[in-house]
Amino acid sequence: MTSITIRRPDDWHLHLRDGDMLKGVLPYTAAHFARAIIMPNLVPPVVTAADASAYRDRIVAALPDGMRFQPLMTLYLTEGTDPDDVEQAHRSGLITAVKLYPAGATTNSHSGVRDMTKAMPVLERMAKIGLPLCVHGEVTTPDVDIFDREAVFIETVLDPLRKQLPELKVTMEHVTTREGVDYIMGSSANLAGSITTHHLIINRNDILVGGIRPHYYCLPVAKREHHRQALRKAATSGNAKFFLGTDSAPHVDPLKECACGCAGCFTSINTMSCLAHVFEEEGALDRLEAFASLNGPAWYGLPANEERITLVKHESAVSYPARIETGAGPVTVFDPKFTCYWDVA
Ligand code: DOR
Ligand code: ZN
Repeated sequence: MTSITIRRPDDWHLHLRDGDMLKGVLPYTAAHFARAIIMPNLVPPVVTAADASAYRDRIVAALPDGMRFQPLMTLYLTEGTDPDDVEQAHRSGLITAVKLYPAGATTNSHSGVRDMTKAMPVLERMAKIGLPLCVHGEVTTPDVDIFDREAVFIETVLDPLRKQLPELKVTMEHVTTREGVDYIMGSSANLAGSITTHHLIINRNDILVGGIRPHYYCLPVAKREHHRQALRKAATSGNAKFFLGTDSAPHVDPLKECACGCAGCFTSINTMSCLAHVFEEEGALDRLEAFASLNGPAWYGLPANEERITLVKHESAVSYPARIETGAGPVTVFDPKFTCYWDVA
């Protein structure tokens, strides 16, 4: 097969940032994706409906003329979040989900939740009104090894929460482990998971062997090879519980290439090329549309996009810039370490 036409994909987990960075990265997402769930971990975070509304306006204003793209907004859950404000934001159609960052888990998460009991009034309201919770599923206690933080989160936070509030719809975002995949597959219909492009491609050796490679450092950090294999199986299975959330997370190079580098891989530009490569490798090109374009909207109760895109496999390598220039500075593009032949036509 040399070309494949699928419904226009959506990105169910995206960092667009703000200001010059937003202007620099948004066109790459809008070129391929119709919609994206926008992460609220700005400085300061997007906490209230008013914050989300203003941020949505800034995103729409940053969109180049002639491009179409719909940002699906989220609120950043804090211990002080007002359930009425959340409900109002949901009823007005402003937000698609609320995001839980355990405090300290990742970039700009210090305003996140330390004590889950303090978030219960909001979570109870969300369960009642059918508003999904997007979860960064890692514990942050220093005694838990960073490679175990997802599995421990499932056991000690997520599973108890879902038992306490069985009606709450939860998206376990950027699943990185076999435990995560198994937990989602074995769960009831109100749990699903997003998977990033890069976690289908790299394992922890790629970050650490032969020198430290900061552009492969993200959170949750890439795990052992058998976890990557489990993610590939889940993503390419067609199972409606799994869908694409790139977690494309741009940081300027000086903040990645330093003594304490930021977490995040910037994949908006080449995600579709990389995914076509991965799905072809797995003999599952016919299931790429389910993963990138159908399962996500079905989970969030939205229609699939009517528009189509065509991916073409070229005879020679497709080339991408190694980095892009933004008004905020240079941002390195994710290097999949394989030659890409697939490209969006
Ligand atoms: O790698 C990551 N980068 N993981 C996250 O959870 C946050 C993100 C960011 O905002 O940079
Ligand atoms: Zn993220």
